[in-house]
Formats: sequence, C-alpha cells, structure tokens
Amino acid sequence: MKGIILAGGSGSRLHPVTRALSKQLMPIYDKPMIYYPLAVQMLAGIREILVISTPHDLPLFKRLLGSGVDFGVQLDYAEQAHPNGLAEAFIIGREFVGADSVCLVLGDNVFHGHGLAKLLQKEVDHLNGATLFGYQVKDPQRYGVAVFDSAGALSAVEEKPAQPKSSLAITGLYMYDNEVVDVAARMQPSARGELEITEVNNHYIRRNKAKLIDLGRGMAWLDTGTHDSLMEAAQFVQVLENRTGVQIACLEEIAWRMGYIDDVQLLASADKLGKSTYGEYVKALALAAAKETT
Ligand code: G1P
Repeated sequence: MKGIILAGGSGSRLHPVTRALSKQLMPIYDKPMIYYPLAVQMLAGIREILVISTPHDLPLFKRLLGSGVDFGVQLDYAEQAHPNGLAEAFIIGREFVGADSVCLVLGDNVFHGHGLAKLLQKEVDHLNGATLFGYQVKDPQRYGVAVFDSAGALSAVEEKPAQPKSSLAITGLYMYDNEVVDVAARMQPSARGELEITEVNNHYIRRNKAKLIDLGRGMAWLDTGTHDSLMEAAQFVQVLENRTGVQIACLEEIAWRMGYIDDVQLLASADKLGKSTYGEYVKALALAAAKETT
C-alpha cells in the first residue's frame, strides 16, 4: 500500500497564524504538525509516501523531511496548485499510486492510542474496497458524519451536516483499493467547487465496499482546525509526553522500532538533531540501543 499525506489548503481558519506558513508546518508542542500523520503512515507499515502541498509550501516540506532516509521511508512530493478538494489527491497522485492500494491521511489529523499500529496494519492487510475510521465527537457538524441504516450498517457519509444523524465523525484517515484513482478521475466538483472525499466514500458505500472502524474511546483523534483545538492538541501531547517520558510521533523512534533504520542510523539521526528535547530523546534511545548490543 502507498501513502499520501495531503497538506494543502489555505489554512484560512487559522489566519493570521497561517498567512505566511502552512498550517501543517505549525508546531503541535515539540514537532511540526505533519510529523503526526507521517507517524500514522509509518505505523501502518507504509514506506512509500507522497506529500502533497501548495506550490508555495512544498519546498518547505522538502526542507523539513527530505528524502525520508532519516525515517527509513521514501518520500515523494507533488503540488496541488489550487485547493480543489481532498479527492484531487488521487488525481495528482495517480502515477505515484500506480497499481497499488493507497492510504490517505490529512496533514492536520492527529491520532494517538494504544494498539493503533496493530489496528492499522490489520486493515492494510485486509483491505477490501475502502476502510474508513470513525470517532465519536461532540461537534459532528464540523466533519463528515456517518449515517447508519436501521440494521446499524453504514449507509452514507454526510459532509458537515447541519443536523448530524450520528455523532461519529469520519476522520481524515482513509484506505482505498486501486479503484479510487478512477473514482476520483470521474468526479465532478461539488457546489463549493471541490472534489469531495465524502463523495468518494459514498461511492464505496453504495457498492457495499466500505468498512467503518470505530476507533473507540481508547484512542485520541485530535483536531487542529481552530486556534483552541490547535492549542489543545499541543497540550495533549505535552501532558502525555511529560507524564510518561515517551514521545508521540517521534519519527526516528518509529522508524527504529519498525525496523526501517538500524541502531547506527538512529545514532546518526540523533547527532543531527542536536540539543532540543526531541534530539535528546532520540539520542537517549540510540545510546540505550548501543548499550544493549555491547
Ligand atoms: C475534511 C473532510 C471531512 C473530515 C475531516 C477530518 O474536512 O471533508 O469529511 O471529517 O476532513 O479532518 P475539512 O477539515 O477539510 O473541513
């Protein structure tokens, strides 16, 4: 399975913070926002990942993440010239996806929870059509929302409904079989002029080829769409990291634990990162690993 991270958009809901800098480059506590969705792809076992952003911001993502070698993954980059909607990712990424299946993660979505890696890997292995991930929220009208029939089966997704029919939001993490590139290519822009991911999802639902996983209350799905939610996401990461001493979305650590990089590469990364708390954390991991093998 290939991975796509969509980090476009104008970030207008966070202006003036995002007027000069892409939203997905903003920090969530101790690391740039895009680290979190990239961590999700890596935990799912996906190692070929396309980062899509605006022509203006793409060079900055390249500067931040490079070829991916530090994280044991291969990163490609592509421009979304205009904010034409999330489903355009599959048109832009068509060649990159090739004949493969694909996992799309939105660049501003943060997922955290015990067992997330296993859950994602299982879905990658058993994909049949589309897999969507739902999460119960207090304010579903801000998201794509699941609709269920009388038998409790997923019957549709409604995009930002004024009167949501459930409180299960469809998160910005989607897995699709290869048909998605054709589905996206045939789509027409919605009333707001965008190729809607919700339409892609409804295509799969109508054909009985969509599976919905409720992430459940043991997981955290955090939003970064407003100043308050951005701050809350940072506080969430800060609280957990300070309490446990374990980092969320430390890409070098994930790469090392997943076997994408070895002890030597981990140490080399730590040296490059320098004296930030993030760098110190990677350094401590690398030193502990070196000690274990001697
Ligand atoms: C998008 C999708 C929506 C989804 C959300 C998740 O909304 O259109 O269905 O629930 O991402 O973050 P947006 O954030 O682009 O308004």
